[in-house]
Amino acid sequence: MRYLVAMIFLTVSAMALAQGKQLHDNNCMQCHASLTDGKPNSLYTRDKRGVKSLEGLNKRVANCAIAADVNWTKEQQNQVVDYLNSQFYKF
Ligand code: HEC
Repeated sequence: MRYLVAMIFLTVSAMALAQGKQLHDNNCMQCHASLTDGKPNSLYTRDKRGVKSLEGLNKRVANCAIAADVNWTKEQQNQVVDYLNSQFYKF
């Protein structure tokens, strides 16, 4: 039973991350690509990146979501934050 619970938890987490990646890739890459010579994800890994904390990441995603005009729910926004944090920032 304990393994089943752990497996369900891992599956749900993986699905949320995949969902976050999809939301991000569909809505956020184009503008970032234009800022980075076609390497949008380098915005998150460059030496002088702006975001320094998880709180900062939440704020930045909220602001960029307005710029991207996506109208996400809080849950969708959190999925994107989790995706960016697990993939790039690792706070
Ligand atoms: C209309 C253009 C535009 C769109 C669309 C956009 N962004 Fe951004 N984003 C920017 C700009 C400009 C910066 C700041 C770049 C800099 O500091 O040089 C930025 C920076 C960021 C950063 C911080 C990078 C760092 O320096 O650590 C994150 C995180 C981010 N955006 C997330 C998102 C997400 C998530 C979306 C999709 C909802 C999105 N952005 C859509 C323009 C955009």
